[in-house]
Amino acid sequence: MRYNLLLSIILSGCTYNELITGCTNPLAINYSADAIVDDGNCLLDECISTPSFVDCVKPIIDNNCVSCHSYGGEAAFLDLIDYNSINYAVNNYDIIVIINTTMPKVALMPENNINIIEKWINDGAQNN
Ligand code: HEC
Repeated sequence: MRYNLLLSIILSGCTYNELITGCTNPLAINYSADAIVDDGNCLLDECISTPSFVDCVKPIIDNNCVSCHSYGGEAAFLDLIDYNSINYAVNNYDIIVIINTTMPKVALMPENNINIIEKWINDGAQNN
């Protein structure tokens, strides 16, 4: 409750665009010192060694693929919105080659993100 009040005071004090979003957890591998609002995309050390679908892969896909690969997006023919649709893509396309060469269509992801998805696929693309 008190947090909500504080947040609304902060939000009313400046426009949304002025709030820099990013990972605000200093323990994360993608910590951003400039970020004020957490974007839910923090990646922890475990994502390098034993990446899980829920904590590591899903946030990356959400932030880098879903805007186009979901209903209403320019690549809605291939949903990447949940484990089942992502697993379908893994089984039917060479995702490792694709994320290293062509996708996201706008610009490739940072090496960290690519490595995490690769490791997860090589570990068996589990729903973990
Ligand atoms: C800016 C929009 C956009 C984003 C973001 C995006 N894609 Fe795509 N994607 C497309 C479009 C459009 C196609 C259809 C083929 C084409 O136009 O190249 C496509 C096709 C694909 C295909 C089918 C194979 C192929 O190359 O045609 C896969 C798999 C794929 N994308 C995976 C991803 C993954 C994984 C991400 C995130 C890491 C991602 N895409 C991000 C627009 C996007």
